Amino acid sequence: MSLYHFQTVKHFIHGPGSLDSLGERLGLLDTPVRRVALITQDAMHRLGVTERVVAQLKGLGVETTVIDNVEIEPTLENIEGVFRSTIAPAAPDALIAIGGGSVLDAAKLFAVMLTNDMPLKDMLGIDKVAHPGKPMVLVPTTSGTGSEVTPNAIVTLPDEELKIGVVSRHLLPTLVLLDANLTLGLPKAITAATGMDAFTHALESFISTKANPVSDTFALESMRLIAGSIVEAFQQPGSVQARSDMLLGSMYGGLALTAAGTAAVHALAYPLGGKFHVTHGVANAMLLPHVMAFNLDSCAARLKRAACVCGIAHHADSDEVAAGKLIEQIKQWTQVLEIPQNLRDFGVAEEHLADMAVAASKVTRLMINNPKALSLDDIQQLYRCLLP
Ligand SMILES: NC(=O)c1ccc[n+]([C@@H]2O[C@H](COP(=O)([O-])OP(=O)(O)OC[C@H]3O[C@@H](n4cnc5c(N)ncnc54)[C@H](O)[C@@H]3O)[C@@H](O)[C@H]2O)c1
Ligand SMILES: [Fe+2]
Repeated sequence: MSLYHFQTVKHFIHGPGSLDSLGERLGLLDTPVRRVALITQDAMHRLGVTERVVAQLKGLGVETTVIDNVEIEPTLENIEGVFRSTIAPAAPDALIAIGGGSVLDAAKLFAVMLTNDMPLKDMLGIDKVAHPGKPMVLVPTTSGTGSEVTPNAIVTLPDEELKIGVVSRHLLPTLVLLDANLTLGLPKAITAATGMDAFTHALESFISTKANPVSDTFALESMRLIAGSIVEAFQQPGSVQARSDMLLGSMYGGLALTAAGTAAVHALAYPLGGKFHVTHGVANAMLLPHVMAFNLDSCAARLKRAACVCGIAHHADSDEVAAGKLIEQIKQWTQVLEIPQNLRDFGVAEEHLADMAVAASKVTRLMINNPKALSLDDIQQLYRCLLP
């Protein structure tokens, strides 16, 4: 039996409306909180969420600096710029992030930048962050990245046309609030792309070479919840039950990937984001069925278990038949959810594939988790599936 290590956040509060209890929960941070940085985005201003939170904190005598200029899928430069101009001068005791993965990842980086005297570029990679950061409360408003529970933060390096991660246990927050009410207004396209990202986290963790009993538990429950709610969340955006299941499913996906890691889908998605600005969820959703078809002969039994937990296959099906049903279902979801199907729409052409394959192959942190090795030719062939 092999050893595995799992570490997670200290406190979760789950339930629609849980954001209203933010103020009273600050005690869980175990540190006096007089000044906070609230990192959020325009969507939360429009929904009145920022105003509500600032008022709640003011009532408790907490001074709040609102930061809303983190870019979508932020660059390293953007993170450093926002840090220098607003976060460092505000010198907060704690950080609260309310938003999608872009905002949560930025807050995780700010928290450790406040306590580590080192440039952000030196934190890139695994376990480079020396000291714990300031305490954080993370409140996801997309049901996708699971960033609220992962030790990862992703930044874009435009010069190198790459996305790259900081991976450190010091990026874990103290408190996570899951409030599905915040996701009711999530636009359809973002619901679809982020939801498929979450499903990808669970499925890739489940077939990862590092899969283990802890990751399997979270991955299976994540897939069950997402398979049962993703179409409803897309078609009936106001369904609190579907939104709640998606939010929990995406958090479980984040826990699964923390315990086992994602794999080739995410590695192949990085060059699409870095160079062609395909958003993270869309890139993963487009690649997922093709990479799973490539992987099929190396993990058919696992794909069958995933298909069964999603209610797509029967135990009597052979591994290959059940795995085929899962791949077919993923393709159908991408159509029903109106996920783009053609990389040409993003400016990708045959002549780019060789460089993209090299870039993807360099994401060894994730490639080593894939159950089947990919040659540069294999990677090009997978991208080619998306250039019909
Ligand atoms: N840290 C991790 O473990 C991890 C895992 C996967 C992805 N990521 C990263 O996360 C980023 C993507 O995050 P994301 O997919 O959550 O999207 P996002 O944070 O980039 O947001 C996408 C859009 O959704 C809008 N939005 C967010 N919540 C909303 C709401 N409730 N209502 C209306 N609009 C809303 C935002 O304003 C934005 O326009 C990428 O940079 C990706 O690389 C991180
Ligand atoms: Fe992802």
